[in-house]
Amino acid sequence: MTQELVVVTGGAGFIGSHTVDRLLERGCRVVVLDNFSTGKRENLDHRRDDENLRIIEVNVADGIWAALSSVEQAWQPVDRIIHLAAQTAVVTSIVNPLDDIRSNYATTVHLLEYARCRGVKKVVFASSAAVYGDVDESPVRETAPKVPLSPYGIDKLGSEMYLRYYAEVHGIPTNALRFFNVYGPRQDPKSAYSGVISIFMDRASRGVGITIFGDGEQTRDFVFVGDVSRAIVTACFSESASREPVNIGTGNETTVNQLAQLVIDAIGSKSAITHAPSRAGEIVRSCADVGAAKASLGFEAQIPIADGLKQTADWFQSQS
Ligand SMILES: NC(=O)c1ccc[n+]([C@@H]2O[C@H](COP(=O)([O-])OP(=O)(O)OC[C@H]3O[C@@H](n4cnc5c(N)ncnc54)[C@H](O)[C@@H]3O)[C@@H](O)[C@H]2O)c1
Repeated sequence: MTQELVVVTGGAGFIGSHTVDRLLERGCRVVVLDNFSTGKRENLDHRRDDENLRIIEVNVADGIWAALSSVEQAWQPVDRIIHLAAQTAVVTSIVNPLDDIRSNYATTVHLLEYARCRGVKKVVFASSAAVYGDVDESPVRETAPKVPLSPYGIDKLGSEMYLRYYAEVHGIPTNALRFFNVYGPRQDPKSAYSGVISIFMDRASRGVGITIFGDGEQTRDFVFVGDVSRAIVTACFSESASREPVNIGTGNETTVNQLAQLVIDAIGSKSAITHAPSRAGEIVRSCADVGAAKASLGFEAQIPIADGLKQTADWFQSQS
């Protein structure tokens, strides 16, 4: 059987590097396109000698044709694309919406145009629960109203619509996956925009206080990166998946108070928990309805939060 060539934009990032691991384990050839704005070469260091991996430094907002031409010549045509590269800071998107349109919206269209011209077999896109905004429904179904509260969420929703258009009109199979709160090893705790888990882990491992904004009863659906990368690769190779976007979460709600205690337990820390005034605009409840992912992809998250946090804590402690 010929090897499949999969392009992963943002493949040096947190979710991307785990996705690359899975694809290589599956026997694919993998091309990572990354500008290392938030991704790191060290996330793929353990694959340094893998002859099936190419890493190309490129800003995908500038287009991907030139970057991929050498690979197409040396290897083979691109079979599938997993598009994870994005400017991921919601606050930055609010400060500079025009930049966000270029990096998080126009780039999706660049990739879809490439896919159309090259007859790519599948495009998988990293969307987000941010497309919903602050919905009343919990767990939230894919059919809930979409009222994104940031350019980041708007550009994810617009990208989803382009995926659907290319599927309907140009016959390119596409899947948009709406990730909820993803956590796990390689999530950068130093980033001001990193997930709450890596910030809590960082503080717990240093034994300094953990601050919770508001009463801590706000909930999130925390999904382990190993589950998310499995959903991505499943969608990438699925012939039967619906073209409707699907939620990728666990279907379980965890309060931020519970989370802080779970992190302290996983690290074995003595950090104290304190509360600060709630932040304006913070979403109170967020939890995925996971029925559509099961029906479309046969995907269900498997890693319980305590196990995922233990793996994350072990990684954190191995870094210090
Ligand atoms: N982590 C989460 O909880 C979460 C939730 C919902 C959606 N997502 C989406 O999942 C995807 C991956 O997120 P992540 O958490 O792994 O973040 P990340 O910052 O670790 O990964 C993003 C990667 O894209 C690269 N990148 C950014 N802009 C680029 C550009 N213009 N050209 C080339 N490379 C570029 C970065 O260097 C990085 O390697 C993103 O699209 C993000 O919006 C993440």
